[in-house]
Amino acid sequence: MIYKEIFMERAIQLAKNGLGFTSPNPMVGCVIERNGIVLSEGWHYKKGMYHAEFLAINNIKNEYLFLDSTLYVTLEPCVHFGETPPCVDLIIRKNIPRVVIGIQDPCDKVKGLGIQKLKKYGIEVIENVLINQCRILNKRFFTFYEKKRPYIILKWAQSDDGFIYSENKKDNWISGIHARQLNHKWRSEEDGILVGSKTVLNDNPKLNVRKWFGKNPIRIFFDKKLKISNTHFVLDGTQQTIVFTEKNKENQKNIEFIQISFEEKIINQILNFLHQKKILSLIVEGGKKTLENFIKENIWDECRIFTCDVILKSGLKAPKIGGIISKRMNLDKDQLIIKLSI
Ligand SMILES: NC(=O)c1ccc[n+]([C@@H]2O[C@H](COP(=O)([O-])OP(=O)(O)OC[C@H]3O[C@@H](n4cnc5c(N)ncnc54)[C@H](OP(=O)(O)O)[C@@H]3O)[C@@H](O)[C@H]2O)c1
Repeated sequence: MIYKEIFMERAIQLAKNGLGFTSPNPMVGCVIERNGIVLSEGWHYKKGMYHAEFLAINNIKNEYLFLDSTLYVTLEPCVHFGETPPCVDLIIRKNIPRVVIGIQDPCDKVKGLGIQKLKKYGIEVIENVLINQCRILNKRFFTFYEKKRPYIILKWAQSDDGFIYSENKKDNWISGIHARQLNHKWRSEEDGILVGSKTVLNDNPKLNVRKWFGKNPIRIFFDKKLKISNTHFVLDGTQQTIVFTEKNKENQKNIEFIQISFEEKIINQILNFLHQKKILSLIVEGGKKTLENFIKENIWDECRIFTCDVILKSGLKAPKIGGIISKRMNLDKDQLIIKLSI
């Protein structure tokens, strides 16, 4: 690994601290280096809070140190006034002579303008260092701006003989406790969690984060005829919730009822709505019909399947999905496969 990449890799590592907290902003990490020594580090840790570059720069009190320094940042610095002032202006003001950037910002307000301004002020800009890793780091953010929809993760647990549900199994749990805990970690990382109405009616899920530390995703589900009553956890108002229905219903505390047409392509309608709401990512946790809608339309990015040490013999068959396997892992007696859409 060459010099520049070592510091960029550290910036990526720092950026990951923001996972689950920065949306709708990207995760960003920053390192300031001088003569091979790291002078300062920062990362964007929460939406509305300081940017990574600001935090790294602000740690350095002796301005003389900037003169021969290099700033490494995973994403092009911002050039516009948002919740914080532009990072590009701060870099210029501090006379930092060199900036190494992982990847250009896809959002219209920046998209190369940050790089242009740095160059205009005589700053040496080195672009695309560890570009693939920097893109994967912000896969949700890039999908949102490039495809105009959230990053979609399909997730289910299936028995060893390929069923996701059976009346033979009373408690409905297929996976083991560590797989379930990992699933709660995943929930804390995404903006929204979506399920079908049958899953709500059969399982009465809470769709929150209990076995991990982190924020709850926005609960999202279909309820065409408004059959789901207030006795279900998803309508307890303890968490921001969106219900897609054909009925007209007034919103309640923390619950939005969104009227859509069930005659037209339902997935596109909900994704457009979620895009407008700046929801960057969605984990779809079943059931079969709901998952298959995304698979049929080929609108998904990642799929996480647990195959568990249980035999159900009959019931709902797990969905079939293509894609390429990016990871295999064993968790107790459960096997996890992660697939990426092609
Ligand atoms: N093993 C696992 O990982 C896992 C995870 C989740 C659920 N499950 C199991 O899966 C079972 C439910 O699966 P399921 O396939 O029967 O039902 P589901 O996918 O939970 O819900 C299906 C219902 O959602 C609505 N819906 C979803 N997509 C729609 C679309 N594109 N267009 C219109 N309506 C749509 C429809 O509701 P309306 O009928 O109101 O129109 C449809 O009947 C549950 O019993 C649960 O235990 C297993």
